[in-house]
Amino acid sequence: MGVQGSLWMVVTVSWLCLQAQLLHSQEDLVCNSSDFKALLDLMSNFESPVDGWGLKASANCCDWPGVSGGVGFARKKLVGNLSDSIGKLDQLRFLNLSHDLLARTLPESLFHLPNLQVLDLSYNEFSGPVPKSANLPLLCVFNIYKNFFSGSLPVRICANSTRIQVLNLAVNCFSDVILPGLGNRSSLQNPSLATNSLTGVISEDIFTLGQLVQLSLQENSFSGPLNHGIGNLTELVRLDISTNGFSGSIPNMFQNMKKRQYFIGQSNGFRGSIPSSLSNLPSLKFLNLNNNSLTGTIVLNCSAMSSLLSLDLGSNSFRGPFPEDLPNCQKLQNVNLARNKFTTPIPQSFKNFSSLAYLLISNSSLSNILSALGILQHCSNLTVLVLTLNYFDEELPSDASLSFPKLKFLDLSWNRLGGTILSWIGDFQSFFYLDLSNNSFVGEIPEEITRLPSLIQGIMSMVEPFREFPLFMKRDVSVRRPQYNQVTSFPRTVDLGWNSLNGSIWPEFGDLKNVHILDLRNNFISGSIPDSLSGMTSLETLDLSYNNLSGSIPSSLVRLNFLSKFSVAYNNLSGPAPGGGQFPTFPNSSFEGNLCGDHTSACPASQSHSGSPAHSQYHSRSTDHDINEHLGVTIGLAFGMAIEIALGTTRASDSYLRVTIKSCTRVKSETARNSAILHGRLQKMPVLRSELFIVRVGIQLERGLLLHIPSS
Ligand SMILES: *[C@@H]1O[C@H](CO)[C@@H](O)[C@H](O)[C@H]1NC(C)=O
Ligand SMILES: *[C@@H]1O[C@H](CO)[C@@H](O)[C@H](O)[C@H]1NC(C)=O
Ligand SMILES: *[C@@H]1O[C@H](CO)[C@@H](O)[C@H](O)[C@H]1NC(C)=O
Ligand SMILES: *[C@@H]1O[C@H](CO)[C@@H](O)[C@H](O)[C@H]1NC(C)=O
Ligand SMILES: *[C@@H]1O[C@H](CO)[C@@H](O)[C@H](O)[C@H]1NC(C)=O
Ligand SMILES: *[C@@H]1O[C@H](CO)[C@@H](O)[C@H](O)[C@H]1NC(C)=O
Ligand SMILES: *[C@@H]1O[C@H](CO)[C@@H](O)[C@H](O)[C@H]1NC(C)=O
Ligand SMILES: *[C@@H]1O[C@H](CO)[C@@H](O)[C@H](O)[C@H]1NC(C)=O
Ligand SMILES: *[C@@H]1O[C@H](CO)[C@@H](O)[C@H](O)[C@H]1NC(C)=O
Ligand SMILES: *[C@@H]1O[C@H](CO)[C@@H](O)[C@H](O)[C@H]1NC(C)=O
Ligand SMILES: *[C@@H]1O[C@H](CO)[C@@H](O)[C@H](O)[C@H]1NC(C)=O
Ligand SMILES: *[C@@H]1O[C@H](CO)[C@@H](O)[C@H](O)[C@H]1NC(C)=O
Repeated sequence: MGVQGSLWMVVTVSWLCLQAQLLHSQEDLVCNSSDFKALLDLMSNFESPVDGWGLKASANCCDWPGVSGGVGFARKKLVGNLSDSIGKLDQLRFLNLSHDLLARTLPESLFHLPNLQVLDLSYNEFSGPVPKSANLPLLCVFNIYKNFFSGSLPVRICANSTRIQVLNLAVNCFSDVILPGLGNRSSLQNPSLATNSLTGVISEDIFTLGQLVQLSLQENSFSGPLNHGIGNLTELVRLDISTNGFSGSIPNMFQNMKKRQYFIGQSNGFRGSIPSSLSNLPSLKFLNLNNNSLTGTIVLNCSAMSSLLSLDLGSNSFRGPFPEDLPNCQKLQNVNLARNKFTTPIPQSFKNFSSLAYLLISNSSLSNILSALGILQHCSNLTVLVLTLNYFDEELPSDASLSFPKLKFLDLSWNRLGGTILSWIGDFQSFFYLDLSNNSFVGEIPEEITRLPSLIQGIMSMVEPFREFPLFMKRDVSVRRPQYNQVTSFPRTVDLGWNSLNGSIWPEFGDLKNVHILDLRNNFISGSIPDSLSGMTSLETLDLSYNNLSGSIPSSLVRLNFLSKFSVAYNNLSGPAPGGGQFPTFPNSSFEGNLCGDHTSACPASQSHSGSPAHSQYHSRSTDHDINEHLGVTIGLAFGMAIEIALGTTRASDSYLRVTIKSCTRVKSETARNSAILHGRLQKMPVLRSELFIVRVGIQLERGLLLHIPSS
């Protein structure tokens, strides 16, 4: 849902009403008095009236907004519950109450409407069980996505609804095993049972639904082996069984699946190897088996897999040679092989891998970084390269010349690489994310970094990885499941921390107007902090701690309006801390370990803490700070609940948080929701260490919407 300004409250009430006069034009429709009464009754259970409805409105309820096929948009959400009188609208065909704030249980009568065809109650706060018996003979669409329904899964709703096509029960609190009942509905094409708490083995009758196009069972607690009957679903285009407890080997049953494009099976307990019917499947575009326990060597028949776009086999126990054949998968763009063990380095064949755009191979026992970079520079489409936790104790020779014209994102952190940071870094014309932290690089920071055009000007565009290729996991807790970051929403970063760099900070860093994070901590950098750093106007994090910097902190830095994290701790700085801007919000620990203690201690000529405007500002900000602490605590306590954060305005440091906590337990949810609407200034961005490497969760500034909370 797009959350934009005042439109964040959109009501959609729409239904097609009344009588057999459908052949007549709309003006001819006359309100039936019993419908009139039922609609009034319905409205009385909403906390505020629906615009254009009621006794004062037209006596012909068919003219009311949303009735009679019209679609009513009011600028507020319906709050309240659904009255039993809904059952009196016996001509109701279409009921769409999506994206409201309706709560409580559903009335039984709703499930006995003889003419109802479409029932869309998605994105509400309904709870309780769905009534066990239902008689909706004309129902085509049943969508209760994202509510708090509990109890057993209402698959039997299909028993009396022979025309059912859409059955969306996802993101609720249904528990228990799936009862049989779906199997008899040959009209069903895309049942979604995802993100519930379903357990046990999948009911066999699902595998008789030969016409299924999609099957979404992800994010439940299903267990046991995957039924061989999966091979009977020959029309299936998309299968998502990720984040469950499936175990055993993946059945070798995919040979007849001419239409299968997606196999999404990450985060299960699958063992053994990739079955040959899957690794030879010509139609397959997306294969994701990340985070399982697969073993053996990686064998894919790329001559057969001519459609493959995205391959994620990270976090398994594959061993043996690096899969040399991959470049023959002619369309393959996204490859994640991280956290396996390879006995050979990246092969020469990768020079021909022209479709490759994303390559992630961290923690995979690779060696020979120079050869790897030498090969990969020929991959003309490579934009993102992550090679962390591999090349231990290797050195980059200072005369190496390499060129990566399209590379935008390079992470070589945690490699213990020695040598100097090479000046060819300056050839990365498109860079926006450079992480060389936690290596053993020596020498000066190459000045070329300060001339990277992409860090100086703004515009950056790139092709995002496919959604099925979970590059960076984040948790959009409002939907109670992990989601994946957009690369372009990442903060522009230069991270050279935890090395052995010396020399001083180039004044030209001030030209990098687009950098959001500059991290040089834990090096041997000396000299003073250049005044010109105040030119880095986008800076949100500046960490210069644990170096040998001397002189004072330039007061020009108060102009860095977006700075939310700052540290110069443990240097040889002297003089007072600047008093304005964001500085009073930084904790003492940002300044400790210098010649002149922290910024609250009595430094000579401290001008910032004596009733000046900065002083009072300090107090108001510190209150905000407390709110943030509180927020952190609330989030911590809300483990297992869902937390929704909407960031109202556009810039982080001027933004307010609105936090709503919901949970599957109704009681908790009600109290938590009312008590936990917090408004606080967003000062510290949470830090997330992903499976692959450090991700500093950024802010989608332009979109004004933030949904990032670290998963741990
Ligand atoms: C119900 O309304 C929402 C907009 O509020 C819309 O996105 C959705 O498609 C509608 N559902 C149906 C079944 O038409
Ligand atoms: C109104 O609808 C009810 C129930 O369908 C029906 O019994 C009654 O005859 C209708 N009244 C009019 C005036 O059409
Ligand atoms: C439904 O809402 C009405 C009006 O707000 C309220 O009086 C009634 O108690 C609610 N019903 C339930 C079951 O909560
Ligand atoms: C189907 O409808 C009939 C008649 O209303 C009802 O008795 C039966 O319980 C319904 N079946 C299910 C599974 O809800
Ligand atoms: C499915 O259909 C078969 C026969 O067509 C019937 O025996 C069985 O009871 C039905 N199952 C359900 C759950 O309705
Ligand atoms: C799959 O199809 C075969 C042959 O049509 C059938 O014998 C088998 O029972 C089916 N398996 C399941 C689980 O439906
Ligand atoms: C890996 O899968 C297990 C379940 O099989 C899950 O508990 C764990 O959170 C997953 N790890 C990641 C990083 O997704
Ligand atoms: C790989 O696929 C090609 C083309 O489909 C096929 O001819 C060949 O036999 C397959 N190789 C193996 C080892 O399966
Ligand atoms: C790259 O492809 C060309 C032609 O397809 C082939 O001649 C060459 O040997 C390949 N190079 C490598 C390193 O595989
Ligand atoms: C390289 O990327 C461009 C743009 O993303 C794309 O159009 C082109 O097909 C890619 N090249 C190959 C060989 O895949
Ligand atoms: C690297 O891989 C090893 C096993 O292969 C694992 O134990 C370790 O936790 C991984 N390290 C990180 C930081 O992922
Ligand atoms: C640096 O990398 C090593 C692995 O090479 C890791 O164990 C260590 O925790 C990292 N240190 C920091 C500060 O990130």
